[in-house]
Amino acid sequence: MVTIAPVELELDDIQSGALRERPTPYVGTYLLFRIDDRHAGRQMLRRLQPVIESGRQSSDRANDAWITVALTYHGLKALGVPPDSLASFAPEFQQGLAFRYERFGDAIENGPENWEEPLGTPDVHVAVAALSPSAEQLEAVLERARRAYAELPGVKAIWRQDCYQHSTGRNPFGFRDGIGQPAVEGSEIPRTNTKEPPIKAGEFILGYPDETGGLSPIPMPQVLGRNGTYLVFLKLHTRVAVFRQFLRANASSPEEEALLGAKMVGRWQSGAPLVLCPDRDDPELGADPRRNNDFLYYDDDFRGFKCPAGSHARRMNPRDALRDETNVDVRLHRMIRRGTTYGPELPEGVLEDDGADRGIAFVFAGAHLNRQFEFVMTQWVNSGVFIGASQEKDPLVGANDGTGTFTIPQRPIRRRLHGLPSFVVNRGGEYFFVPGLRALSWLADLET
Ligand code: HEM
Repeated sequence: MVTIAPVELELDDIQSGALRERPTPYVGTYLLFRIDDRHAGRQMLRRLQPVIESGRQSSDRANDAWITVALTYHGLKALGVPPDSLASFAPEFQQGLAFRYERFGDAIENGPENWEEPLGTPDVHVAVAALSPSAEQLEAVLERARRAYAELPGVKAIWRQDCYQHSTGRNPFGFRDGIGQPAVEGSEIPRTNTKEPPIKAGEFILGYPDETGGLSPIPMPQVLGRNGTYLVFLKLHTRVAVFRQFLRANASSPEEEALLGAKMVGRWQSGAPLVLCPDRDDPELGADPRRNNDFLYYDDDFRGFKCPAGSHARRMNPRDALRDETNVDVRLHRMIRRGTTYGPELPEGVLEDDGADRGIAFVFAGAHLNRQFEFVMTQWVNSGVFIGASQEKDPLVGANDGTGTFTIPQRPIRRRLHGLPSFVVNRGGEYFFVPGLRALSWLADLET
């Protein structure tokens, strides 16, 4: 019998932000920069290197504070990366999110023409994300980062977004988030779904075999592409009051409101999955990382009586529910999410909008922008064809226009919610490349 050696990921070379969970609780900051002078840009990368953590797990609490550095296609150009190397990046990355956005058929409300400046413009070159368990640690990490771009007139800070974990530990709609993550082969991070084999590392990190059995296409030269990953950043404003009003209008009791919300999301507010507790929330289950993601759909809930096929979480990862479909391999469309929340909480029970900007800084990491993020946006957020409900969009994040519907299978007859508005507005986003640590040195040492 031939045994295939498990893949050895070069964890010391992979930036931590790609593979490691963010700390919890956390405070953080996203900064965007424009490079006006390539030598200054390279100098900045050189200075940032000592501050960046690798993906190897650390038991040192101080290492929970970390910085991730990512570049757009325009950023690589501004640094002076040679044209043949630029041309070896994924075409979607070269084109950028703003250009690709129309392909999503307005999956999430609001196109690039209305985005927050400078998101979606050629001015965005470098992103620095700093995440940390406390404000003091964040300040210390940011100070080290600041030293990296201080007194470099050729690099300009052009945008900042702070984020922090809400007191509830949940997202602005009140739901625990970030639970459903793929297990990555060789990452040393234990899997949370024992019913699902880990996903091949090449689905997320460039330079390794992926689920197709081949190597994912990798930017050249090898030293630049290997151990890198693509990243999608979206600033998603959440209409929390509108969401609460919608639940109130469609339910006759607080219990029913909670149930409808859970049916739309696929999990209760605590994070407990509907498949494992369909009738009422189970906060202990929701908080238990050994159990709250340990499930499939096909055998337990094929028809969606517990968790509707159209719910957000089941759409975004149907697990084994599409087992009978020969043309869909769910494992080719998985995504690592590293989102954070921004803006003030809307106090519980408030149904009026206070005008504040609150939402999610959505972060996706993966090796295939096209068949992961873009596929999910076009096929699973924006269309219901794959679940036999062609008129329906994702009930939580889809660009519903006030006439959207959402089907809840139940006996004796299904329930259908009508008049869905959109609860999420895209304020802007970017495609980035997160280089490995050796690649950052290569970029810093460019001599073009
Ligand atoms: C403001 C916008 C969004 C909110 C409030 C939101 C909220 C949630 C919640 C509450 C869950 C269930 C908890 C969990 O499994 O982590 C979830 C799961 C998930 N969401 Fe979102 N989400 C948003 C946008 C998106 C977008 C744009 C995508 C992808 C294009 C996405 C992809 C996923 C995935 C892949 C899962 C995990 C499903 C699983 O593995 O079971 N989400 N989301």
